[in-house]
Amino acid sequence: MIKDEYSEVWDTCCDHGKLGVALLERGSVSKVHFLDCVPSIIEALELKLARRNFEKSRYQLHCMKAEDLALSSKGSLVCICGVGGETAIEILKGLERNNDLSSHEIIICVQHHIYQLREFLRQEGFKSKNETLVFDKGIGYEVFLLNKTSKEDVHPVGTSIFNVANPEHQAYLKKIIEHYKRKVRGDKTDIHIMNLYKDIAKK
Ligand SMILES: C[S@@+](CC[C@H](N)C(=O)[O-])C[C@H]1O[C@@H](n2cnc3c(N)ncnc32)[C@H](O)[C@@H]1O
Repeated sequence: MIKDEYSEVWDTCCDHGKLGVALLERGSVSKVHFLDCVPSIIEALELKLARRNFEKSRYQLHCMKAEDLALSSKGSLVCICGVGGETAIEILKGLERNNDLSSHEIIICVQHHIYQLREFLRQEGFKSKNETLVFDKGIGYEVFLLNKTSKEDVHPVGTSIFNVANPEHQAYLKKIIEHYKRKVRGDKTDIHIMNLYKDIAKK
């Protein structure tokens, strides 16, 4: 999903930094920023990158909260991967506070609270440039490539990313529907969300 069109890429919540390292290995992004809020993670990553002998001008490390990020160059890509949907929403709120996001793009790949995340993205006018469902070790992840300029709205539940003929997709939907079934037993508020996912699984 990451094309070579960005001035800089921010691997936020980077932890092991695998995403940023893959981009450094690919060699086409001029600068990769590794960002995590845990000091020991950034220290370990600094040693790891030094051992790999990547040119120092090609990367930078930042120990800070992603919410506080102020983007330095136009046309950047910000990646928010591997955190929960609620954390991603807080990070996006911070990014919007500190930046004009009109020339930037964002990749999000998170777990949990996906419906709330989609709702937030729609409210805040993020547009969908690409969306897909990927599986890693049997776990499904919805991946979003977003910006503020594409025409496509983010769909409330992402109907087009699902191929119901694919058993992995069916299992992913079943898990979400089961989650909402448990939730609406006590409180009916989210019944419409459950029904949206049920409609996709039926197709
Ligand atoms: C599970 S790791 C994700 C690693 C990698 N991005 C991936 O997708 O596999 C989550 C990382 O996010 C960091 N993190 C969580 N909230 C953060 C925030 N608000 N700002 C910066 N880093 C954060 C944690 O310290 C942790 O290293």
